[in-house]
Amino acid sequence: MSQRLNLAVQSGDLVVPAEGRIAVFHPREGHDLSALPQAQVEVIQPFKPDHDDWGAQGFACVASPKAEACYSAAVVFIPRAKPLARLVVAQAVAATEGPVLIDGAKTDGIDSLLKDLKARTSATPAISKAHGKAFCIDGGIDLSDWLIGPQKIEGGLVTAPGVFSADGIDPASQLLVAALPPKLGAEVADLGAGWGYLATGILTRDSVKTLHLVEADHAALACARQNVPDPRAVFHWGDARSWGQKGTLDAVVMNPPFHSGRAADPQLGQEFIANAARLLRPSGQLWMVANRHLPYEAKLGDVFAQVAEVGGDNRFKILQASRPRRRA
Ligand SMILES: C[S@@+](CC[C@H](N)C(=O)[O-])C[C@H]1O[C@@H](n2cnc3c(N)ncnc32)[C@H](O)[C@@H]1O
Repeated sequence: MSQRLNLAVQSGDLVVPAEGRIAVFHPREGHDLSALPQAQVEVIQPFKPDHDDWGAQGFACVASPKAEACYSAAVVFIPRAKPLARLVVAQAVAATEGPVLIDGAKTDGIDSLLKDLKARTSATPAISKAHGKAFCIDGGIDLSDWLIGPQKIEGGLVTAPGVFSADGIDPASQLLVAALPPKLGAEVADLGAGWGYLATGILTRDSVKTLHLVEADHAALACARQNVPDPRAVFHWGDARSWGQKGTLDAVVMNPPFHSGRAADPQLGQEFIANAARLLRPSGQLWMVANRHLPYEAKLGDVFAQVAEVGGDNRFKILQASRPRRRA
């Protein structure tokens, strides 16, 4: 996937400006930015683990384009969700005076995006390589109808394009809220809090004094700040696999992610479980929901002395774990 940007620069389809900033929207692991002069690049990456990776490689990084941003060129690596892909392209053209290279995999919808854009503007011939395409359009064109901001769903809750369960409440989280005990303890975290549905359910439990909402997606967390206007809520843009201090929480409640990009990735949830065990006090408890087919029990047994399935239905299971095992 990284070759297309290199080919676009080599072929002259993307003329790299000698001066000014070059925005790179949503680069992920495996993208190669070496064709661009690093000192001019500003990475725009709202997903915290990727954001931190680019920062560690020495790139200037922001979570979203600044309102006053003005770039000489831009590169957009399209995300998979179509409304988000359109939003990011529209943000890029609005903030750029020069060329905008758009790069994506076929499985992420680059063909339909190219078709939609060709109906509105001219594009350079697409470079097809490695199951994807890259092409340039001019910055400054009007795609303002693609600049879709946060939207309201049932109950007046706010979500944004591309966030988990953007069109409505997730049924698994709903099941977990209904299964939570009346008392959860005082210090609680929701790992992977999304736009905050589960958090609103946790906060109906009076015992909760502080609820830490830990979420990697900056846009989802911005929605959660609106959806959870409770003084007990503390918002963290962070990686739930490593966030927080050991042995400080009474409960962790979570509906962990199970996808990295397109592929199912149970390891992600297993890393959430490991961190939950690390975060909990000896008397603390984990409450989680998962799709039935996901293999979490072995990991739970590895890091907790007690694990039980306490509810669910034919699609989801609710798991409760206690007595976290202490590691050296
Ligand atoms: C299955 S969703 C649950 C969302 C929310 N708790 C709810 O009930 O609607 C999992 C969430 O984890 C987030 N996520 C994925 N990887 C993460 C990571 N490494 N650290 C923190 N959050 C992450 C996703 O962005 C997503 O919002």
